[in-house]
Amino acid sequence: MKSRIVLNIGKNKKKIDPCIYGHFAEHIGGVIYDGIWVGKDSKVRNYNGFRAELVDKLKKINPPVIRWPGGCYAETYNWRDGIGENRAVRRGWWYESDGMTEPNTVGTHEFVDFCRMVGAEPYFAMNITSGTPMDAREWIEYCNTENTSSAKEREKNGSRDSFRIKYWGIGNENWGGGGNMRPEYFADLYRIYSVVTYNVDSNTELICGGANASDYDWTRRVLENLSQSHKHMHGYSVHFYCADEGKNQTLEFSDNEWYQQINQAKRIDEIINTHWGIIKSYNMEDCAKLVIDEWGAWHHDRTPFDKKHLYAQQATMREAMVSAVTFNIFNNNCDKVRMANAAQLVNCIHSLFLSCGDKCITTPIYHVFDMYKGHQGGTVIETVVDNKSIEFTDRQKDVCLLDMLSVSASEKEGNITLTAANVSLDEDATVTLDTGNFEIDGDIKMSLLNSNNVHDCNTYENPEKITVGAQVTAENGCIVIPKASIALITFSYR
Ligand code: AHR
Repeated sequence: MKSRIVLNIGKNKKKIDPCIYGHFAEHIGGVIYDGIWVGKDSKVRNYNGFRAELVDKLKKINPPVIRWPGGCYAETYNWRDGIGENRAVRRGWWYESDGMTEPNTVGTHEFVDFCRMVGAEPYFAMNITSGTPMDAREWIEYCNTENTSSAKEREKNGSRDSFRIKYWGIGNENWGGGGNMRPEYFADLYRIYSVVTYNVDSNTELICGGANASDYDWTRRVLENLSQSHKHMHGYSVHFYCADEGKNQTLEFSDNEWYQQINQAKRIDEIINTHWGIIKSYNMEDCAKLVIDEWGAWHHDRTPFDKKHLYAQQATMREAMVSAVTFNIFNNNCDKVRMANAAQLVNCIHSLFLSCGDKCITTPIYHVFDMYKGHQGGTVIETVVDNKSIEFTDRQKDVCLLDMLSVSASEKEGNITLTAANVSLDEDATVTLDTGNFEIDGDIKMSLLNSNNVHDCNTYENPEKITVGAQVTAENGCIVIPKASIALITFSYR
């Protein structure tokens, strides 16, 4: 297929918030223990207890922000269990599912330490389901103040300097695990928590717990109750997990299920725009920009490679494609989305890393984060694609169409980052770039992420099966994006 990508350079000034490339590390399965944390006395190379290999690799992709400690886990978390000498051992949120007790070895100080090591801002989720507004206020006071009794306690526990935690989440999935609330009740709780917690440190940014995927009714009813009230809000959360409509297995999928999965991932575009329409209808664009603080492909099998950790999944080229397509949508909607957090960092759903003992490998998802990092902080460029439609069938066996190319572009000081994913399993795309009144200055460079078989994944035995290929120069400006490949294309213009 021959295609043309038009880049409308300089037509808008919207910035891609680096936080769109954020992460999520919950106390669930093997994310914290066995994942990021191995312990200070471990034989596994570590920095202050954190897995050194993971820290080094994570640092390379410029992680802007990491959400913690949940998720659902946050809904029964008492932050006091995770400070000081004697840590409480608890049955945390996920005990019912995997029988693992929570030692609270990683608490506030340790997690902040981890974030500082990798250069990310922590994003803490408050417990509004089983805690109190005062608990939440005291957590902020403990983290962010000087000269208070809470600050003295923090100092006694080893941190003279305040942690200056900027992002705080009020609520997580309160329509479900987070208290099974009605939207009106949640809105009232939000009012209380936002007033009581902002008041202790007004440098914080408060994210309002929000809807599941296309539950627009939840958003309408929450915002109806918050738009006129006195509250503090700096973002509105939406969660979106996608799956194919067939077997929903990680490693075994048909061509049709490949397309279904990617098509499902693309629903995030409509979800962003419909929630945004509601936010606008309440004039809340300034305070309720979207925070997609859980997203990813969630398969409901447990891949044989890891039976131990709850929700542990492998990741094939299909997850890489889901990530690429999702990031292109986030970039193209960067006026509406201010943060996003892939769920979850390691040994879980849609993970960038898998670890076992002293082994730690990166999945193809990690490589997509790496390829797209140049977009962080860039000015988005509107792209128009002369696309081709691919046919597949949905659950009802109805014929559906999917665009063959998914694209986004941004610029920083005359340097363009263009990311293009060819979702076709059969056809390469030969692409010409149209930069309008601007001329491409010098070479066009391209690197690709792909594999001979889309079912491939990285394993402990073959950890580099899928990695980003060497950068090549597009000869005579001819760019070929092979089938089932993700391309990072960079060039300058004048
Ligand atoms: O990411 C796993 C779980 O999925 C989170 O704890 C919860 O918020 C969501 O339902």
